[in-house]
Amino acid sequence: MTDFLLAPSILAADFANLQRDVELINRSEADWFHIDVMDGVFVPNISFGFPVMEAVHRFATKPLDVHLMIVQPERYVDAFAKAGAAAITVHYEACTHLHRTLTQIREAGCRAGVALNMQTPVDVLADLTDTFDQVLIMTINPGFGGQKLLPLSIPKIQKMRRLLAEAGSPALIGVDGGVDLKTIGSVLAAGTDYAVAGTAVFGADDPLRAIEQLKSPPTPTLA
Ligand code: DX5
Ligand code: ZN
Repeated sequence: MTDFLLAPSILAADFANLQRDVELINRSEADWFHIDVMDGVFVPNISFGFPVMEAVHRFATKPLDVHLMIVQPERYVDAFAKAGAAAITVHYEACTHLHRTLTQIREAGCRAGVALNMQTPVDVLADLTDTFDQVLIMTINPGFGGQKLLPLSIPKIQKMRRLLAEAGSPALIGVDGGVDLKTIGSVLAAGTDYAVAGTAVFGADDPLRAIEQLKSPPTPTLA
């Protein structure tokens, strides 16, 4: 079995049955909960905020991996830490003082993550490799679940792998967007440590089985 972490995205859960869906993930082989927070400014969609995050936290028995798709995320880092985040990921494109914000996340007791949109080259993080614990390569344009993975993001995973290896950084590489049974092999082959999956999990007839299948994909190949 390929060793990587799977983070189902609550964005694709049934909000009218949130406790049921959280408990389903608790029972599954999945590793983290991925919590997508959107402000309608940084991305063209609004998802949810603290009440939903707190409801997930009340029932979740696995770490909450919070992905902030919001402008000026530094304003809310401490509140998300208090609401139960284990990891907080901010966007490179949303942070004027990324070093300060990542430091703030660690000081709040969380793993610090940075996400890169499609157009942002991995090299922008070269001088900051000691400052983050995980990096999220967007494999879609963020804002909505259910999109198709954009293949031009795959070489970025490999480039990030090289950059972190050269720096001797233990930071994890994640991918987010369009991960399903067809695409998981190529993202793993490129060097992914954790993968977010929304639709592929909650859109499946049997989400537990979908998680099992995603966790034991066929031998990774660079398609
Ligand atoms: C999109 C979010 C993703 C989304 C992934 O902006 O960051 O985490 O939930 O959903 P799927 O797996 O459906 O592409
Ligand atoms: Zn996300």
